[in-house]
Amino acid sequence: MFVRRFILRSTRLTLEEYSMDKMRTLQKSLLALCLFASAMASPTPKPTESLEALQIVSQGAQLFSTNMIKIVAKEQQDNLIASPLSANIALTMAANGAAGTTEEQFRHVLHLPSKTQTLTGFQQLINTMNNVENVTLNLANKLFIGKDFPVKSQYKQDLQTYFHSDIESVDFSQSAKAADTINTWSKEKTNNRIDNIVQADDLDSSLALVLANAVYFKGNWAHQFDPKATTDRPFHVDANNVKQVPTMFRKGNYKYVELPEHEAKCIELPYANKEVSMVIILPDKIDGLAALIDNIDAVMLDCNVRLAQTYEREVRVYLPKFKTESKLDLGNTLSTKMGLSEPFSNSANFNGISDLPLKIDKVVQKAFIEVNEEGSEAAAVTGASVRPLSIVWKPLKPITLEVDHPFLAIVNYNGLALFITKILWHQQPKIST
Ligand SMILES: *[C@@H]1O[C@H](CO)[C@@H](O)[C@H](O)[C@H]1NC(C)=O
Repeated sequence: MFVRRFILRSTRLTLEEYSMDKMRTLQKSLLALCLFASAMASPTPKPTESLEALQIVSQGAQLFSTNMIKIVAKEQQDNLIASPLSANIALTMAANGAAGTTEEQFRHVLHLPSKTQTLTGFQQLINTMNNVENVTLNLANKLFIGKDFPVKSQYKQDLQTYFHSDIESVDFSQSAKAADTINTWSKEKTNNRIDNIVQADDLDSSLALVLANAVYFKGNWAHQFDPKATTDRPFHVDANNVKQVPTMFRKGNYKYVELPEHEAKCIELPYANKEVSMVIILPDKIDGLAALIDNIDAVMLDCNVRLAQTYEREVRVYLPKFKTESKLDLGNTLSTKMGLSEPFSNSANFNGISDLPLKIDKVVQKAFIEVNEEGSEAAAVTGASVRPLSIVWKPLKPITLEVDHPFLAIVNYNGLALFITKILWHQQPKIST
């Protein structure tokens, strides 16, 4: 009992330290941005105010993200890639046009601060995300609205100023043409990587509002894998089935931690931008992934905190190459499992967008990820670790990590989850057309 309480207390303390550390890094990026932005003629609040807003919205985004990961990873029975951050941005854009109890529900589920702080915070967050160097990251979010709904000009202007986005009128009764409009937008925003985000069948004249988000990420590893070291190795799909899958190998220094309390291990694979990394969470047991997902909020937190505290050590990593894509319609998940029912119901209030009664019909997201020797395409050089002086430095024994059964891979930017991937391999993770 005492031990348990002690662990809980120490976790809480380290979480604060961890968040502080993360925020400081965001602050650094932001300061550079402020200097840049001050030369431009956009409504810039005082730097201290925008810093605070960025911190608050980032913390809210993190909470929403963990919740969404937990629900979506459990719901999807197949290989999965999803971007909670991208969904969050699209929903916040809609929230900005909501009023009354609809707005309250958004605020609660998305953990949003006041309207001014939300707008300022997201403006900073999106600016930061659009300027991540050494990797390519495109977060594209847009609202598509039925042509019969006149959109208020203030709302359009807010989307442009704070979200670098827009709302476009489409004729949903011309479903093929409407689908083409949405798909063309998605292709343009993602280097042609993401197409067919919607099909004509998904659309009909009854629709009023569709939130689309598409995310593209391409990053090279800080330390690439040697293609010559890639070989077919066994992957335990479940306790009874083994498949041979192309598996990369690299021996190098990585941050690696074991979480015996969760029966899992985590490793951090940094990208060429030291603020972006992929964290692999591997359950100890072949069939341990479901239990891990049930408890994913605690697992992710403990994994991030412990990785932030640890030093690199020599690890022999075996990691399968994979490629997968998912198309999610998050509307039902959000309304029935995440407490965001009102924006999807007939009592929705989007007075800020239009005077006509309006509700969200769909939240569509499509994401893609490819992990290979060079890095990831998806839709950090590890920060210099400072050794505490009080501890005598002892090199850790080299260890071997074989990612050879179902696992999670999370792409983080300064601790914010950009993508979550679940790889099961009962079906070859592949790209449909
Ligand atoms: C981007 O790459 C350059 C050159 O390798 C490096 O000096 C710089 O630190 C990298 N930026 C980040 C944020 O990692």
